[in-house]
Amino acid sequence: MCGIVGYIGQKEAWPIIVKGLKRLEYRGYDSAGIALVAQGINSYKKAGKVTDLEAFAEGKDLRGRVGIGHTRWATHGEPSDRNAHPHFSEDERLAIVHNGIIENYATLKEELASRGHTFKSDTDTEVLIHLIADIMEAENTDLLEAVRIALTQVVGAYAIVIADREHPNQLVAARKGSPMVIGIGEKEYFIASDASPIIEYTRNVVYLKDQEIAFISDDALLLKNIDNEVQTPYIQKLEMHLEMLEKAGYEHFMLKEIHEQPRSIRDCMRGRIYPQEGKVQLGGIKEYAEKLRNADRIIIVACGTSWHAGLVGEYLIEEYARVPVGVEYASEFRYRNPIITEKDIVIAISQSGETADTMAAVELAKERGATILGICNVVGSSIPRLTHGGVYTHAGPEIGVASTKAFTAQVTVLTLIALYTAQLRGTLPQSKLVELLTALEDAPLLVERALKCDEATQYIASEIKDSTNAIFLGRGIGFPVALEGALKLKEISYIHAEGYPAAEMKHGPIALIDKEMPVVVIATKNSSYEKVISNIQEVKARKGRVIAIVTEGDTAVRELADYVIEIPDAEEALLPLLATVPLQLLSYHTALLRGCNVDQPRNLAKSVTVE
Ligand code: F6R
Repeated sequence: MCGIVGYIGQKEAWPIIVKGLKRLEYRGYDSAGIALVAQGINSYKKAGKVTDLEAFAEGKDLRGRVGIGHTRWATHGEPSDRNAHPHFSEDERLAIVHNGIIENYATLKEELASRGHTFKSDTDTEVLIHLIADIMEAENTDLLEAVRIALTQVVGAYAIVIADREHPNQLVAARKGSPMVIGIGEKEYFIASDASPIIEYTRNVVYLKDQEIAFISDDALLLKNIDNEVQTPYIQKLEMHLEMLEKAGYEHFMLKEIHEQPRSIRDCMRGRIYPQEGKVQLGGIKEYAEKLRNADRIIIVACGTSWHAGLVGEYLIEEYARVPVGVEYASEFRYRNPIITEKDIVIAISQSGETADTMAAVELAKERGATILGICNVVGSSIPRLTHGGVYTHAGPEIGVASTKAFTAQVTVLTLIALYTAQLRGTLPQSKLVELLTALEDAPLLVERALKCDEATQYIASEIKDSTNAIFLGRGIGFPVALEGALKLKEISYIHAEGYPAAEMKHGPIALIDKEMPVVVIATKNSSYEKVISNIQEVKARKGRVIAIVTEGDTAVRELADYVIEIPDAEEALLPLLATVPLQLLSYHTALLRGCNVDQPRNLAKSVTVE
């Protein structure tokens, strides 16, 4: 987590860095800071958001054509001015911004302290810059070499940019485990945690590889690896557009992204489905078709919302392709001694492609010989580079911290993988493949209709906004939808919410139900419809307030529920795509009414690059 921006060139650095940091605030927003190199280094840092930093710096000397900036998600040390980046070497010659964690910082700090270093913050980052300065002095080397030597002593993950007061026309950057992109302009370079701060200046970028170090001046970029070998920069063209990073008239990114879902689902299927032929084509994994055909088992690893998508995938792959599927929290999987064989296929799901736990799970499974496939949204991120093959979700940049369109795109890809595997294994008759793909082709239109519940969800939000708890119930493929609905509500409105399989309620949670408790039930007409009606009756008998997601035209649930939200009638496989939409809107409106920051909920960051 944390966002980094660096600039070196002919323009004033401050406005470029401020704008870039605002784009990266999804990565953390506990504090922000910028150091500008001109005659010496001027540094400004402040707890809070980038706007707090701007207010703090108003009227101060903001000149400089070289600078580094940071927006923080706190790991070591509370969010405060003192712990905000940039951090400095003892003599304040070197300034650093850092994303990641230096795991052996305590040992390094002790060693440095024994040599007389004193520290001003509680951060691991300050230890790293002291170490670099120490090496520069002890070995009498330049900054680039000192950084290289220091990084051989460091355990952990990092993306760093360092400015040097004595060499105001150069920056040194490096990465391992945390992302970093360098944009190449005309006599200028942009350095950032992702391409969003760069896109309006240049389309030419170099994604720094793990353990690469970049020496950047306003007219040169030199790359070395940690073994001191010069590397050739691989320049790629960005395909992102600036409009994708803006709110396009919506009040919040989350609302924009909810409404983008018909488009993102369509983009995700483009060129991949041929309904009339009953055929799915997935170029990114076709090399592994034989493996999928013969797999004894598929293991899905993911975190958070992506894990919920994984549960939908489990249902669909088992139903259509008849391969046993296990869905694992990546953070748990990596710390067990999981049984993985060469015949296993591991599917890693990650919107950002940078989640540390998911990356570690992938590395573990890869070491043990499994075939690893990825379902990621951010093109060029770390997980797609670790996997053998994969399918991008093509949902476009997701800026709202709460995941919405990425989830439905992940579910779409998983549906495609389920049908592709069914096609390979011959587990579905051709006519069924035609039927399912024809239904899937209509999903964008159906999601558009599901979005019409904005007013209904707004009204229900006004009814539940003062609740302290909520329960979400679903069965079968509706259960992961209930989990996702509960996660959305809790993360952006701070109402405690739990998702439960509807039938499990009687084994404990039913004790929670009283007239205050909103109970959101996925009660659409599918294979568990009748059973869910019984579960609703159990809730009503205990005076719970039922909010039901029902199929258009439903009357039975309407009679029982306090509030209903209709979604279009569709093939059961489409239920997660359709039923999730009203739950996203319900959370959005509830959070708004409670005065919460919808796009940047407290304590969270979009890209979780720490364990
Ligand atoms: C919830 C949310 C998180 C992420 C999780 C995994 O709205 O966004 O739960 O789903 O942190 O992130 P990715 O998918 O980037 O690996």
